[in-house]
Amino acid sequence: MTDEPVVITAYPDGPLLVRGAAELRTPDGQEVARTRRTVALCRCGLSTIKPFCDGTHKAAGFRTDD
Ligand code: FES
Repeated sequence: MTDEPVVITAYPDGPLLVRGAAELRTPDGQEVARTRRTVALCRCGLSTIKPFCDGTHKAAGFRTDD
């Protein structure tokens, strides 16, 4: 971990973009490996590579509240 702040940005009609050295964990506490400093987390529930976004939200017409 670094002192760099973690920034999470919710993209309209899309994923949560996580920038910085955040640890990702499964509900039972297992660490989720990440290979990039910026990752997109699925919030539509349709990705085939959960917890990461694979772009399926676009084809599915996923919409978020404004
Ligand atoms: S938010 Fe992109 S696939 Fe779910």
